[in-house]
Amino acid sequence: MLANVATKQDMPEAEPMQSTKPDLMTVEEAKALDTKSMAELFKDHINPGQFHFMKLLGFHKVKIETAEGMYYTDQNGRKILDFFGGFGSLAHGHNHPRVIAARKQFQDENRHEIAIAFLSQYATALAKNLAACSPGDLDMVFLGSTGSEAMEAAVKVAERASGRKNCKIVYAENSFHGKTKGVLSLTDSELYQGDFQLVGNRVKVPFGDLQALSNAIKSDPDIGVVVLETVQGGGGIISAPEAYWRGVRDLCDEHNVLWVADEVQCGYGRTGKFYAFEHYGVVPDVTALAKSLGAGKAAVGAMIAKRDVYMKAYGSPKTAMIHAQATFGGIGEASVTAMEGLNVLYDEDLIENSAQVGAHLISRLKQIQEKYPKIIKDVRGQGLMVGLEFQDFSKTMPMVLRPVLAMLDEKLKGSLSGFIGAQLLRDYDILVAFTEYNRNVIRLEPPLVCTMDNVDTFCDALDDLLSKGIVSIVNGFIKSQAG
Ligand SMILES: Cc1ncc(COP(=O)(O)O)c(C=O)c1O
Repeated sequence: MLANVATKQDMPEAEPMQSTKPDLMTVEEAKALDTKSMAELFKDHINPGQFHFMKLLGFHKVKIETAEGMYYTDQNGRKILDFFGGFGSLAHGHNHPRVIAARKQFQDENRHEIAIAFLSQYATALAKNLAACSPGDLDMVFLGSTGSEAMEAAVKVAERASGRKNCKIVYAENSFHGKTKGVLSLTDSELYQGDFQLVGNRVKVPFGDLQALSNAIKSDPDIGVVVLETVQGGGGIISAPEAYWRGVRDLCDEHNVLWVADEVQCGYGRTGKFYAFEHYGVVPDVTALAKSLGAGKAAVGAMIAKRDVYMKAYGSPKTAMIHAQATFGGIGEASVTAMEGLNVLYDEDLIENSAQVGAHLISRLKQIQEKYPKIIKDVRGQGLMVGLEFQDFSKTMPMVLRPVLAMLDEKLKGSLSGFIGAQLLRDYDILVAFTEYNRNVIRLEPPLVCTMDNVDTFCDALDDLLSKGIVSIVNGFIKSQAG
């Protein structure tokens, strides 16, 4: 026996093992936090820089207590109409009763979550449902938790199936495909790309320009994949005509290139069809969904690929595990949430509702544009994915406002969408979304349960606010900053 090794008998009586519980908040304490304490915790532990922007817009004063259908309710009982919809994540509205009931039942029955060791009845059924919702042979499904993860899977399956050793990927100007390291390389934002080392095998083309895409593909045989949002969300609700999409399909077919359609934001009925590409009578080789797929209660993303594409990439036992589901892919409660969500989407005719209510929204906004042509530059979109673009006042703000505006943030200078969004919330109890790449665009992506009345409430509020004129709108915003 080694001399310096203590035997069991030499050791002092062991104290019972006990780890000290850190200073942990309880769930009930979290629910009871006030806006001041939340702000401190956010700055201390989440993102102090982001808090600065929330404060600028007055969003830091709101604490949401409950949410139902089209409305949030804040700490003062104020109901806030949701025309932001989590950038398209709330197709069913907040806390849809059927989705809640499916989740409760799943919990009460002590169902299992992790879908890795055994076959999962929930993951397999969700995959079947997604294949049923998808046209053509878009039949093979990879389940994950976010849009970025779904897009990573989409790009990877296409890259392998393209059959090229040094496969290059075409992506579009103003694209947004997520912020994880792989798809960040295809997200056309200097800000988000930061100074990270990006994936090099990519070629950028203007969105909607078939000639540019054709030139790229014809001049470089290494190009094997084209990745495009069907409607650019982060770019400010930008779509392309049918001829473009038919051309994309033909070009890809001719040159054996695979087309990946990112439908994370524009899919799931948002534009009045389940997939936005269905407006154009074409089917991509691979697509991706997320956001509303989780029915507003779970984090679910999915890549859906044509079966032959999937089989080329991962079809044999040797290749099957190259990109199989991650730990939480197809997790039980998230999968049944997504399944119930898909059933509700069709049972309640939400896709048709999106088309009809969206048409009413666009028509009312166009009337408002006619009334205020010096303020509104463009109204565009389809279904309940609508962009409202204001004129760029950054260089033309009235002289009286320039000194005060100079004190404001770079991000907001001259951006009417910031001033208008902040006042829609403060004075009209309406939430709208801003746009990453074009600060003059407000994005309207309300839940697909939105009614004609909700649209009228929103449009009446916007009309009333715009009737006050630019000087009053900007002054109103500046006053709120002082208060
Ligand atoms: C078109 C598109 N693709 C991908 C993503 C990334 O999704 P997530 O934020 O869930 O990772 C987004 C998110 O906004 C998106 O709009």
